Amino acid sequence: MAESMKGLKRSHRCTELSNKNIGEKVTVMGWVQKRRNLGSLIFIDLRDRSGLLQILFDAENIGEEGFAKAETLRSEYVVAVVGEVIKRGGAVNENLATGDIEIKATELRILSESLTPPFPIEEGITTKDELRLKYRYLDLRRPSLQKNLILRSNVATLIRQFLAEEGFLEIETPILNKSTPEGARDYLVPSRVHPGKFYALPQSPQLFKQLLMCSGYDRYFQIAKCFRDEDLRADRQPEFTQVDMELSFVDIDDVIDVNERLIAKMFKETIGVEVPLPIQRMTYKEAMERFGSDKPDTRFGMELVNITEIVKGCEFVVFKGAIENGGSVRGINVPGQGAMPRKKIDALVDFAKGYGAKGLAYICINEDGTYKSSFAKFMTDDEMNAIVKAMDGKAGDLLLFAADTDKLVYSVLGALRIHMAEEMGLLDKKQFNFLWVTEFPLLEYSEEEDRYVAMHHPFTMPMEEDLPLLDTNPGAVRAKAYDIVLNGTELGGGSVRIYQSDVQEKMFEMLGFTKEQAYERFSFLLDAFKYGVPPHAGLAYGLDRLIMLMAGEDSIRDVIAFPKIKDASCMMTNAPGEVDDKQLIELAIAVTHKDEE
Ligand code: AMO
Ligand code: AMP
Repeated sequence: MAESMKGLKRSHRCTELSNKNIGEKVTVMGWVQKRRNLGSLIFIDLRDRSGLLQILFDAENIGEEGFAKAETLRSEYVVAVVGEVIKRGGAVNENLATGDIEIKATELRILSESLTPPFPIEEGITTKDELRLKYRYLDLRRPSLQKNLILRSNVATLIRQFLAEEGFLEIETPILNKSTPEGARDYLVPSRVHPGKFYALPQSPQLFKQLLMCSGYDRYFQIAKCFRDEDLRADRQPEFTQVDMELSFVDIDDVIDVNERLIAKMFKETIGVEVPLPIQRMTYKEAMERFGSDKPDTRFGMELVNITEIVKGCEFVVFKGAIENGGSVRGINVPGQGAMPRKKIDALVDFAKGYGAKGLAYICINEDGTYKSSFAKFMTDDEMNAIVKAMDGKAGDLLLFAADTDKLVYSVLGALRIHMAEEMGLLDKKQFNFLWVTEFPLLEYSEEEDRYVAMHHPFTMPMEEDLPLLDTNPGAVRAKAYDIVLNGTELGGGSVRIYQSDVQEKMFEMLGFTKEQAYERFSFLLDAFKYGVPPHAGLAYGLDRLIMLMAGEDSIRDVIAFPKIKDASCMMTNAPGEVDDKQLIELAIAVTHKDEE
């Protein structure tokens, strides 16, 4: 039976009490974590979002009736307890913030009872993910998830404070939009008033924040929900949150400066981590050549080495062929793994094939300095020695090589590098290596669409010195775009924007839009540029990814209160769901086929 809390008022959260409060009368409320009966004494651990507090019931203080009530308490009952803070009678619990005190109860009310939960509400449970997501409201009671959401709230508060102090205005932008251009698939919302027409949910506030710059708001930010219908991974959700900003009358260094100070403050004040400033900068080209990735994890070495020059005259057809086709041969040195058994090396070859490689060549350097290699028989001793020297190979090292187009070699070795670091336990979650990656290519050729697509988005400014290349060699044009990378994850990205109508029109032309198509989609922006537009630039962080890394989690699901699973559904609400025929008729929508459960 649920009792009323009438006349009671919570005085403290569980862990707001300490031995400083001994002797005080307090009122605490929360969930019963556990009950222990010791004959004439009953103990419960009371839990709220702050942590645990031990409550002691004895008949002398709470009366026979109260004691009988305490005997009925079960896990997850919600109770109110009035009592006195006393020094703990039994052994001090070093693991608890309130480990040296307890509450001697004088009044107990059961505010609500609970069914037996489908899994115990405690840390380190091994319950299946599906069950935990179905009962997300119970899983969210666990301290680790609470800690993550509290961290998330603290970070958001701090971002608001910092940006307000820096002169940023928080402005909301619409959710019901025309299609936006971040390159993913849109989520569409049918219009009832305009049958056959659809709103698109924003993939980002990109166009609106640029318009706000045109309107003179100077420095904007928003903690914005964004929606992208793309394949989900550990660091991707269909709806996610950006910390989005835009600044007028600035260039790259201004954006970087304010964001470095923001990052340093966030890490220092929420998780106590010192981020040394300035953060290292690296061009896209250097990142690809050294790490095979545009988001390098710089917590460990194993950098890529280009051995094309050394092997270009060799007899090994795999190497020779790749080079003749305009590709390259590169390798990584996996230190101390030279004794890796053949079976494990074969698994690495399969791993590489998973990334599109035709194979993976290797040299194991034996402890006596001799080699075991998949391609030594095609090479001269001098060539082998030159390769090993270039790779800085030492006794006991494993050298892995890929030969193909640069693009493929980078993606294979970049992925192998991370894979080996994981296997070798080199990834320390407590180490935070930030990196700015700059000078991204403006355009990227899409084989699928047989045209250039914008690498960041169509509003990104080309580097001035590369403008002449737009007509002759578009693929080589660099952009004034930058990403902020943390431990191999792309945390955020941004760019200096095009603010000249002619350059913007040229850009659309490069992307294969006719003038009419460009106007049809973005007329409001192109028109706005005709009425006085300030030079502007901006950046957006993925807030979920940021909190994931700060909290040391492997998935952004663990820092989102109600996340979706891989197929973009919600296990708790069962969204997406079917709707009434009446609704469909109103929307002038006919369903042609249905999801087969
Ligand atoms: P971009 O597309 O790079 O840039 O997105 C910015 C950041 O948002 C995060 N992010 C995601 N997080 C979780 N799930 C997703 N599906 C997802 N997609 C992106 C990433 C990414 O770095 N308007 C531009 C920014 C700008 O130019 O100012 C933009 O949206 O952390
Ligand atoms: P093969 O002569 O095809 O048996 O190849 C000899 C070695 O080269 C094997 O270890 C292959 O895995 C490797 N190999 C094949 N293709 C490539 C490639 N594109 N890059 C690197 N190594 C390769």
